[in-house]
Amino acid sequence: MLGIKYPIIQAPMGPFYTTKLAAAVTNAGGLGIVSHTNLFGVDPIADMEKNIKWVKENSKGPFGINIRVARLQIDAPELIKLIIRLRKEDPELKKRLKVVITSAGNPKPPATEFKQKDPPLIHFHVCPTLYHAKKVDDLCDGIIATGYEGGGHQSYEGVNTSVLIPEAVNNCKKPVVACGGFFDGRGLAGALAMGAAGIQMGTRFIATKECEFHENYKNIVVKSNDADTVVTQGMLGPIRLLKNKYTEEHHEILSKGEKISLEKATDLEKLLEDQKKYELVYNGEVEIGPVLCGESCGGVKDIPTVKEVIERTVRDAERIIKGMSSLIA
Ligand SMILES: Cc1cc2nc3c(=O)[nH]c(=O)nc-3n(C[C@H](O)[C@H](O)[C@H](O)COP(=O)(O)O)c2cc1C
Repeated sequence: MLGIKYPIIQAPMGPFYTTKLAAAVTNAGGLGIVSHTNLFGVDPIADMEKNIKWVKENSKGPFGINIRVARLQIDAPELIKLIIRLRKEDPELKKRLKVVITSAGNPKPPATEFKQKDPPLIHFHVCPTLYHAKKVDDLCDGIIATGYEGGGHQSYEGVNTSVLIPEAVNNCKKPVVACGGFFDGRGLAGALAMGAAGIQMGTRFIATKECEFHENYKNIVVKSNDADTVVTQGMLGPIRLLKNKYTEEHHEILSKGEKISLEKATDLEKLLEDQKKYELVYNGEVEIGPVLCGESCGGVKDIPTVKEVIERTVRDAERIIKGMSSLIA
């Protein structure tokens, strides 16, 4: 369906950049994804165009982009127009910019747009529960079923991957990509056994040589263990972060029962302040801001190349799957 060698997708990790990472994943036979960025006061539309062109010039093979379609994400409609324009103008992008992963909102308006284009874009939507997966099954071409152990924004319902994947596979017609908590060949073999078409990994790919995240971010992922993350209240809902000074203070605010409301000027100010903290984290200040990270950091213990991560994951999964036939009575 995607024209990739290995069933591995690199998770979108906005508001940070995954441009170099996306090119490396595509070059290694997986599907690289350009993230939806909005840091450093940069125009997100021009930024996306620049990043897409960079991946095109620096890789061979198909790749995709992420658009967060949440109500608050006012740049989403412009990003949709941008993708359609770029594919119209550039025959290479028409062929290689194959996939859009939408998340955090309603995928219906872009789904209709994408289907009308020739060739149609392959549209996956991120679904944290069976309810959401069933809702988009007729609309999208695939489902990224994302369990609660994953890094970054999470659902209020908090369904875990081991329950969500077989449920989505059993109840949906479209291919299901397993996401949240995957970092190795055991995970890939397990996901395939649960009926998934492949896996999507975020945290594992942060700790790679090609990833453009700051060295401090990579190192703290490698040093952290499975119990070192916490789900707290983020801008767009619950969010899984590494425990640090920031999450301690944040928890204190929440424990006072204060709710964030976008109607309140002071809360909006607080959100803008938070936005700056994302930038600090991206620049390496990993103690004082939100460090988005999944429980899978517990299994991430090195910083290899993307190619090594992908080939090791596939090799181990193949060995495990072959070995399992000896379990049959
Ligand atoms: C640093 C970071 C940023 C993320 N930003 C986004 C985003 O912009 N859009 C999105 O759909 N998911 C985002 N996510 C979630 C990932 O796409 C994916 O669901 C998650 O990383 C999967 O869990 P894992 O980290 O255990 O692999 C982010 C995750 C991380 C770790």
